[in-house]
Amino acid sequence: MSSGVFITFEGIDGVGKTTQLNKVYQKCIELGYSVIKTREPGGTNIGMRIRELLLDPGLDEMAQHTEALLYAADRAQHIQEVIKPALKSGNVVLCDRYLDSSIAYQGYGLDRDIALIKEVNKWAIAGIMPKITFCLDQEPEIALKRTKGDRIEQRTIEYYRKVRAGYRHIAISEPDRFCLIDANGTVEQVFHRIWYIIAGRGIL
Ligand SMILES: Nc1ncnc2c1ncn2[C@@H]1O[C@H](COP(=O)(O)OP(=O)(O)O)[C@@H](O)[C@H]1O
Ligand SMILES: [Mg+2]
Repeated sequence: MSSGVFITFEGIDGVGKTTQLNKVYQKCIELGYSVIKTREPGGTNIGMRIRELLLDPGLDEMAQHTEALLYAADRAQHIQEVIKPALKSGNVVLCDRYLDSSIAYQGYGLDRDIALIKEVNKWAIAGIMPKITFCLDQEPEIALKRTKGDRIEQRTIEYYRKVRAGYRHIAISEPDRFCLIDANGTVEQVFHRIWYIIAGRGIL
């Protein structure tokens, strides 16, 4: 169906996803690939409105079900408007967060039923899964020091430990697609770990 390559970046807040996505983007440009970068939540105009709701520290009354559904709604729009068309035209699509974030944050982090989160998102993603996912892995104590404190980022260190453990569960259940990357070290060192896999596995 699609001819492009879909790559996603995951991990807890502050771990370096956006930094590494930008590095991979630059490298792809240098190598002459047609590549786009996008993010969740907020990869579309509608998604930006949803993102404002999701990250507003003033909306602490938001129910957990609402949170999970808003992320899925953002994703549904993103898939239809951005990701699917870009893949169809043969682009490399680099996406900052995707389905695994919902599983880790709303599923494992909030102790919700993982199967249910997957079911809600099944409708949103319309069968589109990344070819590979790089999940940057680091102690929350280190990563969270680099964040600004939006509604989600104000959650406790225990919450982030559960999210990180959730990502590790995904890595065990889908070892081919979901790669844990040690996020400790310099930006260059972490980038080399990622590029080693992209080049070594012939991802592009
Ligand atoms: N390996 C690294 N070592 C030190 N600082 C880093 C590293 N990677 C990213 N940073 C810095 O940490 C902050 C958070 O990085 P960012 O890429 O925005 O994380 P995320 O997108 O996962 O929240 C940024 O200021 C970034 O420049
Ligand atoms: Mg980021």
